[in-house]
Amino acid sequence: MSLVSTPVVDANPPYFFPDYVITTKRSPRRRLVELPHGWFHTMPGPVFGQIAVRATDNDLTIQHPGAPQGQRIHLTGRVLDSDGRGVPNTLIEIWQANAAGRYVDPADPGFMPLDPNFTGAGRCITDNDGNYRFVTIRPAAYAGPKGTMFRPSHIHFSLFGRGLSERLITQCYFDGDPLIDHDPIINAVPDPDGRRRLVATFDHETTPLTSGGDTSALAYTWDIVLRGRGVTPMEG
Ligand SMILES: [Fe+2]
Repeated sequence: MSLVSTPVVDANPPYFFPDYVITTKRSPRRRLVELPHGWFHTMPGPVFGQIAVRATDNDLTIQHPGAPQGQRIHLTGRVLDSDGRGVPNTLIEIWQANAAGRYVDPADPGFMPLDPNFTGAGRCITDNDGNYRFVTIRPAAYAGPKGTMFRPSHIHFSLFGRGLSERLITQCYFDGDPLIDHDPIINAVPDPDGRRRLVATFDHETTPLTSGGDTSALAYTWDIVLRGRGVTPMEG
């Protein structure tokens, strides 16, 4: 199964969207150049570098000696094709801010504190039915550059299929967050249904199963659809 998205509706945001400030730098200004076949984009993947994906790499709350600050969440879902079939062996990498809205990233302006027990990066591989699962904390909202926006709580997702050129990037938001309606990044997605497909839903039925003592967590579910009418919007 190819991960290359071929939406039948205009679900993806444009490469250039001025309110999404970073697109002014990363959107192409010249004609695109086609890379020759037989090199990078036909390299088989996923490629994991020196360290294979471990079963615990999907738990962002156990990467340090202590427990991180913040509301625990279990975020689960499936990677699906246009017919609702699960897509196995997809490498999913996530990165996020901590419970104060701070990234472990030199580019972060540093208004908010770091958490010594939280790095904010994790990964896993979908199982035979396309399922994925992460244990993490709910990231806080954070202010954007120069007061231009206040970003809702979100987690960045990267998906790799069988080819390295088939990387997809998107963001997962959380149901009921009032900042979503004011966020220029999610609102770069032109289709209202597409925006809704970027929002994880609270799973009341599963939440009790994920709770108890120090491991209490809220459960959220979010499926990622690679193509078709229900495609999940991806960033260019
Ligand atoms: Fe972010």
